Amino acid sequence: MNLKLRRAPGTPLIRVGHRGARGHAPENTLVSFNLAVEMGVQAVETDVHISKDGQVVLIHDHTVDRTTDGHGFVKDLTLAELKKLDAGAWYDPRFAGQRILTLAELLAWAKNRVGVAIEIKNGPIYYPGIAAQTIRLVHEHDMLHQTILLSFDHFVLREAKTIEPQVATGILYAGRLIDPVAAAQAANADSLNPAWAFITPDLVQTAHAAGLAISPWCPNDLPTLRMLDAIGVDSIGTDYPDLFEQI
Ligand code: G3P
Ligand code: CA
Repeated sequence: MNLKLRRAPGTPLIRVGHRGARGHAPENTLVSFNLAVEMGVQAVETDVHISKDGQVVLIHDHTVDRTTDGHGFVKDLTLAELKKLDAGAWYDPRFAGQRILTLAELLAWAKNRVGVAIEIKNGPIYYPGIAAQTIRLVHEHDMLHQTILLSFDHFVLREAKTIEPQVATGILYAGRLIDPVAAAQAANADSLNPAWAFITPDLVQTAHAAGLAISPWCPNDLPTLRMLDAIGVDSIGTDYPDLFEQI
């Protein structure tokens, strides 16, 4: 199975579960990803950082404080230390025992099941080599065509394309860019991925005329999902993938 970036006119949105199904389960955990798949997504979105011992791990923040029972920067903890943390109980006691996953674990789980949108978190802590490591793992799991790389750090996306020209990439941004096509082209990216508030019908047309996909994040209510669907975005990442059925 390949992950599509563009939808043909008149066909349904490509559904993306943001950090899994973050509105229903602890973000970036297996229970959250499984729930998103049960809700019918074509891809799950996740965030990657690098541990002290060089492992690519799934967590949104640079520290473990908000989403685990631990404390400290991801970059200062080994994978063994990260794996001891509880990544579910903070959300709800019924999710106790969920663990931080490695990107390798996610890719093995996702293979032939669901696409993966991997957001490379870079800045203010920068991880040298994170693009190369991510692409190496994608190749090891034969997931090149089931994956898109995203980042607010467009340099890291440009680097990723240099390492692997076939990898799909999308520029994340939050604002109304004067020339979003030029921003995508500067990174050799395939997709515009703005915060949903900055999507307009004109922007959708501009993206498509330039051969780019357009995929906003992270609307979490039905009226907004319906509006974005109607103006023709290709895919949407939401914390509540169960809402897609009601569009
Ligand atoms: O997929 C894009 C979106 O996840 C970017 O923002 O902060 O939720 O990682 P954030
Ligand atoms: Ca993200």
